Amino acid sequence: MDNSKVKRYTVTAALPYTNGPVHIGHLAGVYIPADIYVRYLRSNKRDVKFVCGSDENGVPITLKAKREGITPQEVVDKYHKIIGDSFKEFGISFNIYHRTSSVTHHQTAAGFFTTLYKKGVFTEVATEQYYDENAKTFLADRYIVGTCPNCGFENAYGDQCENCGSTLNPTDLINPRSTLSGDKPVLKETTNWFLPLEKYEDRLRTYIESHKEWRPNVYGQCQSWLNAGLQARAMTRDLDWGIRVPIRGAAGKVLYVWFDAPIGYISATKELSNYGKLGVWNPRAEEYYISDSENGAFEWEDYWKDEGTKLVHFIGKDNIVFHCIIFPAMLMAHGDYILADNVPANEFLNLEGQKISTSKNWAVWLNEYLREFEGKQDVLRYVLTATAPETKDNDFTWKDFQARNNNELVAIFGNFVNRVMVLTHKYFNGIVPTCMALEPVDHAVIDELATYPAKIASSIEQYRFREALMEVMNVARLGNKYLAETEPWKLIKTDEDRVRTILNISCQICANLQILIEPFLPFTADKLMKMLKNAGHDWEDAGGVNLIKRGHSLGQPALLFEKVEDAEIEFQITKLNNSKLENAAANAEVIPAKEDIQFEDFSKMDIRIATIVAAEKVEKTKKLLKLTVNTALDERTVVSGIAEHYKPDEIIGKQVCIVVNLAPREIKGIASQGMILMAEDSTGKLVFVSPSNQFADGSVVR
Ligand code: MF3
Ligand code: ZN
Repeated sequence: MDNSKVKRYTVTAALPYTNGPVHIGHLAGVYIPADIYVRYLRSNKRDVKFVCGSDENGVPITLKAKREGITPQEVVDKYHKIIGDSFKEFGISFNIYHRTSSVTHHQTAAGFFTTLYKKGVFTEVATEQYYDENAKTFLADRYIVGTCPNCGFENAYGDQCENCGSTLNPTDLINPRSTLSGDKPVLKETTNWFLPLEKYEDRLRTYIESHKEWRPNVYGQCQSWLNAGLQARAMTRDLDWGIRVPIRGAAGKVLYVWFDAPIGYISATKELSNYGKLGVWNPRAEEYYISDSENGAFEWEDYWKDEGTKLVHFIGKDNIVFHCIIFPAMLMAHGDYILADNVPANEFLNLEGQKISTSKNWAVWLNEYLREFEGKQDVLRYVLTATAPETKDNDFTWKDFQARNNNELVAIFGNFVNRVMVLTHKYFNGIVPTCMALEPVDHAVIDELATYPAKIASSIEQYRFREALMEVMNVARLGNKYLAETEPWKLIKTDEDRVRTILNISCQICANLQILIEPFLPFTADKLMKMLKNAGHDWEDAGGVNLIKRGHSLGQPALLFEKVEDAEIEFQITKLNNSKLENAAANAEVIPAKEDIQFEDFSKMDIRIATIVAAEKVEKTKKLLKLTVNTALDERTVVSGIAEHYKPDEIIGKQVCIVVNLAPREIKGIASQGMILMAEDSTGKLVFVSPSNQFADGSVVR
């Protein structure tokens, strides 16, 4: 959409399912890019509403309730608070963070459905749906799992395969199973209301094809959907948690969660407008505004129905079809809504080389990060933007987190600002000196600085936030290069006026950084603003070199960033490794028991406590250690296959259990007299079976 025609912006961020806390994948994929975009627009004094909220209906919520043994309402209340708090603390500047269990949303979504119903948009279809006879319920969406017909993944959900991303109907699944009982479900007839997507195919194609500027992954997915041919999709479900279908004869049915959730963007805007008109602030404890800017009176319809509004949806790649095909079809059917101008969907962020997984606890949870890295929200914002999965899946690693903090934020950005602050205090008592005659090196810096705001703006407007952030860092690099070239700390002895000029220009670069970094690192911009005592600037001032007047008194220097130490990173890596171990334990296959033996068979074994007194590797083998063991009966040699698990040094002095009457065997030319008892898990990990306290060697184990 041509910028000159844009009167206002509606920016939405996908409503997170309220069935767990949010993690770095959510932040990197959706909320940080959306927030950067919105902060940039606000800095440009554009009129923007940034709306989001909790997605509280649907099967993910009821499944979680079942698992935790609490009610669905308790689930959403708990996580709405946790998620909302995390967003707020990370500075995600929504105008409103609403929720789809609210009255406004129920009314808006039910009203939307009624409008389409009255227009005759839906087809009423009786179909056979899977039914769990044990649990006596229909099995919608995630209540059912089975093998994906497209990729063969065995745990695809009834609505979507998380492995290949394809959207499914429960009846598409091969070998379906109920997630309630594990049983094979039966087919039972039920009536639902379908949105005939095929009728909108031509209009959708025209719409999508008018947006060739969309990211290739988004445009490509839409094309393959259209090319495959669209099919009617049920907009109601046989469930008891959600928004009741507002028509007669629909008892026991609710709106499909993907019908009501995107309408959540509209109801959030409505709610914001209601509050704006009332002039009240934070009227309900659970529905707060995160940003206090621009929440005055306005008409919500302007933000959804006026052609001068630019609507942008920030989402993750698994939401593309819902935002680019189904929701637009709903809006077209309604008839008076605008459609999204862009849907910048990100790919996925992996963690230490593995897919982030809630159920496997393979994630960095935002509420935990906030506890463990207090005050370091911007470090995570920085790293997640610098490695954002904009065009392909990307990997977050703690080593990279540390390196980017220490080598980029501390060494480039923080270092420049700190040097300017310290030198200005040292030479001029913290008063911004006068700019004297300019030399070529000064002109060069001033000219280059002036080019950045437009470059960064252009990247942001094209939703290339990584690139934009790298350009902001280049401004700090420019500052460092300028100081290195001019060396004011040497000149101060011979030419104080030159130092005045250099530090004046350097202060201007700091003031530019304050403006340019704000969309990305708002907490840092705020600190910088307080340090420079320089409020009230926005994007249109950036690029200039008269942002801080000479004679202005700066605040005290303070460090913007601190080094992240090895121990902090090791702590995080250990935490992840622990989840890995817990998963392995939870998933371990239990080996079936062997055939029964008689007591006499057992009592033939003579097992004793013994101490390892010497250990060495058996030459030319990978697995074998030659142990010398004191059994109190004797000192004997045992060859044991534990070299991959233990180094000789670490086991000397260890007490173990040994079968002392096992007939001797020759292994690699060594006579092995006995066998040491080891416990082995399903991954092949071995540990000694040992007495928990020191025990007399030779004691009998039975
Ligand atoms: N709750 C969905 C998810 O987490 C996203 C809903 S986006 C909306 O994948 F458009 F429906 F709101
Ligand atoms: Zn699949």
